[in-house]
Amino acid sequence: MTKTKKIVNEPADEIIKSKAKRKVPKPEANDDAEIKLPKTVDPRNALNDLTSTEWLPETISVWNQRGLGANHPDAQIERQHPAPFSFTDVSRLVRFFTKKGETVLDPFAGVGSTLKACAIEGRKGIGFELNPKYVALTKKRLALEVPGEPSAIEKQDVKVGDARLLIKKLDENSLDLIVTSPPYWNILHKVDHKAKQERVEQDLDTKYSDDKRDLGNIEKYDDFLEELAKILGGASKALKPKKHMVVIVSDFRDKSRFVMFHADIANALSKYQLELRGITVLYQRHKRIFPYGYPYAYVPNIHHQYLVILQNVKKS
Ligand SMILES: C[S@@+](CC[C@H](N)C(=O)[O-])C[C@H]1O[C@@H](n2cnc3c(N)ncnc32)[C@H](O)[C@@H]1O
Repeated sequence: MTKTKKIVNEPADEIIKSKAKRKVPKPEANDDAEIKLPKTVDPRNALNDLTSTEWLPETISVWNQRGLGANHPDAQIERQHPAPFSFTDVSRLVRFFTKKGETVLDPFAGVGSTLKACAIEGRKGIGFELNPKYVALTKKRLALEVPGEPSAIEKQDVKVGDARLLIKKLDENSLDLIVTSPPYWNILHKVDHKAKQERVEQDLDTKYSDDKRDLGNIEKYDDFLEELAKILGGASKALKPKKHMVVIVSDFRDKSRFVMFHADIANALSKYQLELRGITVLYQRHKRIFPYGYPYAYVPNIHHQYLVILQNVKKS
């Protein structure tokens, strides 16, 4: 006798309920009770040193930004820069897109969050930064905030200067990852709210510099975008084939117009054989809410950034 499969007519809301109960891997947890996968690194994995259970949560397209908190002793140097990113978020990217010992470039290094992440994760970091003050703070930060062997710090190389010129000195096929957060056009000149006022009162920088070469001082958005794409596209000549570039940006408002900077830069970089592979939203839960527009108009509080993930598709 052949067995017939029982057909159950599940009502739609039951299906939805049962789906809702199903667990999915949490972005920040390695929930290996859920998916039984090997705990060793797959020998075919040429990208990173992660096991499958470490790999999968990183592919979820929303991450919570993780900072140290403003009062942490290791957050005091970083605070002196008007727009640092969290080295813990960069560490996740460095761990995902490189193996130990590989080389990472940040062409807009600021106070060295990428280099700190590289030192902690056993990678070799190269940083370019226009403002000598931030280069000095990077060196101080590495010395004070990186635990362990001094050799981890010695592998980090920060150069002061214009990224336009410094990228020309990079050797071809010498980089395994480019990760950076560039200036967001000249928005630091425009932002005018309580948070900026507080920085003024504490004598902290509210813009990167007055230098004409600073991308944060370019007047027209289209000129800025072209210049930024030229630098990142130029740097990608030093990226090995199939390796990645991650650009961390936020959209912003220019008066009442909303500018999709993340989309504009992804499109601009497609001309440099950098193909878009994905976009991760970095949720900035800690940010304060301001009553922009209230009670007259909709004006968003932008509480996320984008990790724009591109792959170098040039042949060797
Ligand atoms: C968003 S910040 C980077 C912050 C960095 N991710 C950190 O955590 O400290 C952008 C940096 O680009 C630098 N910059 C602007 N124009 C530059 C140029 N032409 N060459 C090199 N650096 C430049 C600015 O001085 C600023 O520190």
